[in-house]
Amino acid sequence: MDRIRIRGGTPLAGTIAIGGAKNAALPLMAAGLLTDERLVLHNVPRLADIDTMAHLLATLGVSVERRDNDGRQLAIGGTITCTEAPYDIVRKMRASVLVLGPLVARCGEARVSLPGGCAIGTRPIDLHLKGLAQMGASITLEGGYVHARAPKGLKGERIVFPFVSVGATENLLMAATLAEGETVLANAAREPEIEDLARALVAMGARIDGIGTDRLIIQGVARLHGATHTIIPDRIETGTYACAAAITGGEVVLANAKLDHLGAVVRILREAGVEISEVEGGLSVKRLNGLHGVDVMTEPYPGFPTDMQAQFMALMCVAEGAAMVTETIFENRFMHVPELNRMGARINVHGASAIIRGVPAMSGAPVMATDLRASVSLVLAGLAARGETIVNRVYHLDRGYERIEQKLAACGAEIERIPG
Ligand code: EPZ
Repeated sequence: MDRIRIRGGTPLAGTIAIGGAKNAALPLMAAGLLTDERLVLHNVPRLADIDTMAHLLATLGVSVERRDNDGRQLAIGGTITCTEAPYDIVRKMRASVLVLGPLVARCGEARVSLPGGCAIGTRPIDLHLKGLAQMGASITLEGGYVHARAPKGLKGERIVFPFVSVGATENLLMAATLAEGETVLANAAREPEIEDLARALVAMGARIDGIGTDRLIIQGVARLHGATHTIIPDRIETGTYACAAAITGGEVVLANAKLDHLGAVVRILREAGVEISEVEGGLSVKRLNGLHGVDVMTEPYPGFPTDMQAQFMALMCVAEGAAMVTETIFENRFMHVPELNRMGARINVHGASAIIRGVPAMSGAPVMATDLRASVSLVLAGLAARGETIVNRVYHLDRGYERIEQKLAACGAEIERIPG
């Protein structure tokens, strides 16, 4: 298994190109199942999860071809010949569950392995299933698989989510585009990735109102057609590299990044002493003087994203004063804490909150990555720590960060991948 070696202490300086959003690309690829015609996606990030979704679509009979030499353009098309998403793919990537809604809507049935839990939580999909059942699908669970059937098609319904779910919103939004009649999704997630998905669906002929709000109104249509869509930049990659600039006391330009997709991250980083401003073609990020401890609570968009929690915690480890980080979305998303403490951080976890008392400096150490965002928080800590840090199990990183060591090395970081 590859490892990453970092020697900390160098302030980052330079430009980092932000890629397409992983969490927009994955549902958009699943949306390719909603028509036999070609859906062409531009600005697709080159990540392990994208390859896994392409593999899944191929097992369903749908072709995914990379259309340009740097692989950022995908053409998805073809006839569905299988409606089963197998366990060995779904267990690797939970986003595989996003084929459920499109398959039921298109083919009248789907058999998708239950994703099971992951490092950050049990991750149930009950809201996805309840929504499909409300739209007329019969749902049975057998042998670890969900079997959803709607031989006469889905019916539009008014679905009120008891709490915000990104995946359930996406699955049911896609299913509703081909349902009979009107579907209302109330208390829908409002993440920019959902807005991006909705805009692509409209380009494919879907009828959706309320895009960007927590109330989506979809008039079902008989069929969708092909389209071309450019994926939005990745706001979590943007926030991650903003924290990298801040934790090293550097100054970077994040090319292609969009300020308005960052939600509460902008306010929180500014309160912590980080300057973020729009420049031609992206954002400029630099640390003004010292970092200050700032309390955050993770919330659905436009609140502070849970996917930025670990990265922000790394930053708070070297801030003046204390900070409290409260994780309200997932039940087990503090696995980075013991690893950061091994690097000299002072973090105490009390239930869903972690208290971080800033230290003047952390010290490098061999550390273990456990999930995508925890892994990158260890890289951030290593960039600022005295001495050498070795991050093990970097396959977690490769799921969501394209060429992270090259992007950071190009800004002066002493970082390299050690093939394992
Ligand atoms: C998406 O996961 C993202 N993944 C996650 O990013 C992100 O952390 C999460 O949204 C929250 O923003 C993708 O977009 C591929 P949820 P998702 O449904 O859809 C509970 C990353 O690092 N829940 O909004 O699975 C769930 O357990 C990944 O890029 C139910 O109880 O998240 C969680 O506690 C990690 N029942 C909360 O809701 C359900 O049916 C929010 O989950 C669905 C969810």
